[in-house]
Amino acid sequence: MKVYALKARSIGSQLHHFHSSCFREQITNSYDIEGLKKRALEPHPQNNTPSSIVDKVGRNLHRLPDHPLNIIKRRIENYCQDYAKKTYSMQEFAIFDDLSPIVTKRRCFDDLRVRPDHVSRSPSDTYYIDDEVLLRTHTSAHQTELIGSNTNLFLLSGDCFRRDEIDSCHYPVFHQMEGVKIFQDSELVAGDPEKSLEIIENDLKSLLTGLATHLFGDVEMRWRSDYFPFTDPSYELDVYYQGEWLEVLGSGVIHPEVIYNAGKEGAQGWAFGLGLERLCMVLFNIPDIRLFWTDDERFHKQFVGLSNDPKKVISFVPYSKYPFCYKDVSFWLPVVGGPASFHENDVFEVIRDVAGDLVEEVKLFDEFKNNRTGRTSHAYRISYRHMDRSLTNEEIDEIQFRLRDELVRRLGIELR
Ligand code: DAH
Repeated sequence: MKVYALKARSIGSQLHHFHSSCFREQITNSYDIEGLKKRALEPHPQNNTPSSIVDKVGRNLHRLPDHPLNIIKRRIENYCQDYAKKTYSMQEFAIFDDLSPIVTKRRCFDDLRVRPDHVSRSPSDTYYIDDEVLLRTHTSAHQTELIGSNTNLFLLSGDCFRRDEIDSCHYPVFHQMEGVKIFQDSELVAGDPEKSLEIIENDLKSLLTGLATHLFGDVEMRWRSDYFPFTDPSYELDVYYQGEWLEVLGSGVIHPEVIYNAGKEGAQGWAFGLGLERLCMVLFNIPDIRLFWTDDERFHKQFVGLSNDPKKVISFVPYSKYPFCYKDVSFWLPVVGGPASFHENDVFEVIRDVAGDLVEEVKLFDEFKNNRTGRTSHAYRISYRHMDRSLTNEEIDEIQFRLRDELVRRLGIELR
């Protein structure tokens, strides 16, 4: 289970920043949500962001007191501040949790060395506002701007957006936390790059293993080499928890080119990033990612008071699972080479747009090609379930009919 699929997939803190010179931007820890939503809905040929996604901008679940995402965020922040006090001679992490999620392609991808042809950049995976501006796909999108403005030790959390499949651990909006430290010359060894690298890696690993212990208790851990375009070397940390190895975070030594792109050539440091939903789901036993978005008291009251208790682990008690109901839809894809291009994520998005959080899971369960006509057929099974009550047949039929119409209208498919 990967909530932040590590598919190496700026800061206009205020709207006018989109056009200002990046190194003079003042980084403000809050943004004009309404202005931003308006901006996100402006028509543009490259704008593929539906209003259902724009509606979620500014909900900032990670900032809501007693929300499980906020509880985990604060636990991580508190731990890191304690570590910093002990280890970095009283220096503190700067905390950002309200930077605008609308960033430039440059900050989100180019600055971080994500290849121009990498799938994470494509409109099938990313919500674009126009050809240059998009909804951040990860919190790493803020690295070069913050480093460029001499923010040398920071934690940054925020909502991230990816077009993705639909199941209990994928949701198009999720939350990540990023940590970065840029070292002072005095902390490294001049003229000895190997020793300096060792200092950076040891510090990164000791902070993060301490963090994992803080969150999970006394667990077994392992470091694995990984690849991210923005770090070298890159590592993933796994913990052994409740009988399973879990990937907890990605991290590494910041790539020199990323530092260069930030305008700080020659500086050195580490970075890490983690998915907050995933940590919460594991730690609090939350079975479905849609629950983070519910307004139901029966969910929220289970987390009240945990904020003040740095270690307490509770196990979420599901308030009865309401019955689910599934419906199938099958269709011929648009003709290859025809005017409409097709991606499975487009289907998921139409489904989310029409059915919202009532969809629990969508599976492509049949696919074949008719050799005579050359056309391909897809069949999807859609499981509907309300988190907080039972659904009626009429309700689902009505949604399913609308869904069929919208698939035809928006994707140019032919129902079978
Ligand atoms: N941005 C990565 C993702 O979304 C996570 C990540 C990995 C962040 C390694 C980092 C890092 O800062 O060093 O999958």
